[in-house]
Amino acid sequence: MQIFTDPRAFQLACRALRRPESGTERSLGLVPTMGALHAGHMSLVAASRARNAITAASIFVNPLQFGPQEDLATYPRRLEPDAAQLEAAGVALLFAPSPEAMYPPGFTTSVEVTALSERLCGASRPGHFRGVATVVLKLFLLAAPQRAYFGQKDAAQVAVLRRMARDLNLEIEIVVQPIVREADGLALSSRNAYLTENERPAALGLSRTLRAIEAAYASGERDPQKLLAVGDTVVSATQGLRLDYLAAVDADSLEPVARAGPNTLFAIAAFVGNTRLIDNWMVP
Ligand code: PAJ
Repeated sequence: MQIFTDPRAFQLACRALRRPESGTERSLGLVPTMGALHAGHMSLVAASRARNAITAASIFVNPLQFGPQEDLATYPRRLEPDAAQLEAAGVALLFAPSPEAMYPPGFTTSVEVTALSERLCGASRPGHFRGVATVVLKLFLLAAPQRAYFGQKDAAQVAVLRRMARDLNLEIEIVVQPIVREADGLALSSRNAYLTENERPAALGLSRTLRAIEAAYASGERDPQKLLAVGDTVVSATQGLRLDYLAAVDADSLEPVARAGPNTLFAIAAFVGNTRLIDNWMVP
């Protein structure tokens, strides 16, 4: 595996692997991450490996997508073990730039997917999705992948990036992989590392809330307000869980739905202590 910190060197290496001197173009799959890798990230790598000749990954804790009161300074950084995992999984190219390399002095351009960026996490984290869209477009332009892999765990991020790809005519297929969970239901997240042993039961409240909504939906309930009320009951009964939002929205527009059905996204964000966690269930 080749490791790059310089954007231009990474760009040239991706191009060289995609278009060997002789022969036909080879497909490249890109897996963008912020590192502290877990099985959720590695499921994206596996999906890319299965469909592309070359897989590139990035590890970059992107300052643009963190608010001033958020955890940029403490976000887990484990480049060495992460790189070893990616290499063992067959990643050919790893891009791990410094913030200065990605955003040199004078950097002022940003990408804003308006409206969508202000919903769900965008409402509680102003500027977050602008930071995500900006860094992901940069990564897309560097790697020029045929496909890019993202997790359903961050469903609003998927909606924003799909909109960006459509609006800007990007020739990149956005592939979305299912949420990987612990045996007890907790969605894997790099931020789970912040949870103490005592906080874990509260953290399970997110997936329990979604399971309760799913059960009510399975028994025929389609009124989003009633489904959300079922979820709220679980949230209220979970000690140590502080709700940020619980919403029923269309998975593409992120607008509230009048009736739940296929493509309705039930999304939850909640604090356990100082740790902000998210999870979701999309009606199949
Ligand atoms: P990060 O939180 O590191 O996640 C990288 C990718 O892994 C995202 O697409 C995310 O949805 C996916 N992922 C995380 N947990 C998952 C899980 N339990 N199951 C399946 N997939 C999971 O998301 C980001 O980084 C950043 O915003 C990024 C896109 C890299 C831009 O900076």
